[in-house]
Amino acid sequence: MPRRFATIQARSRRGRAALLVSLVLITVAVAACGRATEEEINQALGITPTPTESAEQIAAATERAESAAATREAAIASGSPESGGVAALAGNPARGQTQYSLYCLQCHGPAGQGPNILEPGNPAAAMTYEELLTLVREGTGHGVAPIPNYLVSDQSLADIHAYIEAQAGS
Ligand code: HEC
Repeated sequence: MPRRFATIQARSRRGRAALLVSLVLITVAVAACGRATEEEINQALGITPTPTESAEQIAAATERAESAAATREAAIASGSPESGGVAALAGNPARGQTQYSLYCLQCHGPAGQGPNILEPGNPAAAMTYEELLTLVREGTGHGVAPIPNYLVSDQSLADIHAYIEAQAGS
């Protein structure tokens, strides 16, 4: 074999060896990356993981929420004052004045078609909250269409009732 050719072969063997070494190094490096913990990866990516709940935890939380809702529903059905039920709506006359001017004044004001229900001694002054609620919601004896909850809420009517009471006396 001519000497020159032998040298080229020897060089290319060294070249292959070097290639092999770098392949091994790359594999080691990749394997090292693979060993990064989830925490390290999250940190590197700036991710804050949301803690996941077990099926038992979810079931327990659902049960608690359902039982709380059932308790509240029962309390509302019984109208108990602690419950946030009808009887618990405490009227706020200051808020009621705003609500009144929004929902009642156009008819119950000076130029309106309805009677002045803020005048002391007028029939509205003697009405309870429940009576006012029935009149407004059902429209019976109101001369206007029923005003539904989504237009004037029960709480707004409690406030309006407190305002009428404050103005006209009960
Ligand atoms: C679209 C007009 C209109 C609106 C809005 C209106 N009312 Fe009336 N309301 C009337 C009329 C008209 C009467 C008189 C009905 C009758 O005597 O037959 C009346 C009667 C009443 C009465 C009975 C008064 C009485 O002398 O017996 C009360 C109480 C009352 N309204 C409360 C309210 C409240 C509270 C609101 C606001 C949430 C309201 N109304 C909104 C037109 C209206």
